[in-house]
Amino acid sequence: MSNLPLLGVNIDHVATLRNARGVDYPCPIQVALLCEQAGADGITLHLREDRRHIKDADVYAMKDRLATRMNLEMAVTEEMLAIALDVQPTWVCLVPEKRQEVTTEGGLDVANLRRLPEFIQALQEKNILVSLFIDPEFHQIDTAIACGADAIELHTGAYAEAGLSGNMQLVSDELSRIKQAVRYAKEQSDTLLVNAGHGLTRENVSSIACIEGIHELNIGHSLIADAIFMGIGQAVKEMKTAFASKPIDIR
Ligand code: PXP
Repeated sequence: MSNLPLLGVNIDHVATLRNARGVDYPCPIQVALLCEQAGADGITLHLREDRRHIKDADVYAMKDRLATRMNLEMAVTEEMLAIALDVQPTWVCLVPEKRQEVTTEGGLDVANLRRLPEFIQALQEKNILVSLFIDPEFHQIDTAIACGADAIELHTGAYAEAGLSGNMQLVSDELSRIKQAVRYAKEQSDTLLVNAGHGLTRENVSSIACIEGIHELNIGHSLIADAIFMGIGQAVKEMKTAFASKPIDIR
């Protein structure tokens, strides 16, 4: 049980609900605090370029209220760099961003971002730890390590989608891709933390949570959806319980 990963709760969709009516409820900060009380190990929030859910004011207000740590997801832009340097969250997770996408569709192509090392360095100089959201591919891991990242977060979206399609061969293939990536990352670096996230649910999470070497899972959409039925505190607790449930039976 003690080897299970930490849970970072992504609270973006609380802000999505609030913004749908342009009112000030439900309050993402209040929800974040309830998540922490229920056992969340960190709070993740994505300040998108289009501010479709989290707003600048949420980031600033949350910074001083969290008892755990803030993981600020953001694109590699000068605007976001300035905000992160000002807010100084514990972690920044760099993600790719396309305006038209519904959610973060793929990992960051770190191998083709020439300014990444200096971008990471600027954050680290302010004692901000940096994670890179990447697809589970060896060359992306190599580049993330070469750039000096403190952590990688492996994109589990393809694994989650394979499950939704019901194609168990694909689920198995995507799961082994993630397992190999975790093993490879741990072999290449003693210090790099390996996180994962995207599309994880109480049903599909255990096969990822039981992979040796995974440090933290970041989970948002399904957990906030669960909260409609069971309340946010219970949703956090049940997600943590699901980490330890029996993994999907695939060979
Ligand atoms: N990790 C990263 C880097 C993300 O961009 C997201 C989605 O915003 C998540 C985790 C959480 O994904 P989901 O909402 O599908 O659980």
